[in-house]
Amino acid sequence: MSISKGASRWVICINNIAIKFPSLMSYTYFLYGQIANIEEMENSKFLPREKLCPIIFHLPFGLMTVMKRARILTEEEFSKFDYNAFCNPTFLSSYVEKKNDSFGYINDKIVAVDYA
Ligand SMILES: Nc1ncnc2c1ncn2[C@@H]1O[C@H](COP(=O)(O)OP(=O)(O)O)[C@@H](O)[C@H]1O
Ligand SMILES: [Mg+2]
Repeated sequence: MSISKGASRWVICINNIAIKFPSLMSYTYFLYGQIANIEEMENSKFLPREKLCPIIFHLPFGLMTVMKRARILTEEEFSKFDYNAFCNPTFLSSYVEKKNDSFGYINDKIVAVDYA
């Protein structure tokens, strides 16, 4: 099991799933986290499915999102990764930040894990 902290969400990885909860840093960050979970769910409906880490389950009000677990790219892997080519010609760059921990491997395929 591992816990990662993002901008507005805390992510618990157990076995092959990643569970995203709103941050407990403060009430404000909790709200941001709820919004991020809701946005991620909405964005998954129109962004290219094959480039996204799939959402398996979610609770209403952005209280929890369950995704497949990916292996996050190392900084070295990210330096060799062509972010622009990955994001074009879709609008992915508007949703996925250009940094290593926004991406991960599922099997041998790179996917975006933070697309809120
Ligand atoms: N599907 C996933 N598999 C493995 N780790 C993940 C996954 N999703 C997120 N993480 C880890 O949790 C961190 C925070 O999640 P993220 O979606 O970036 O939250 P935030 O929107 O708050 O930045 C990520 O930077 C990454 O390290
Ligand atoms: Mg993030």
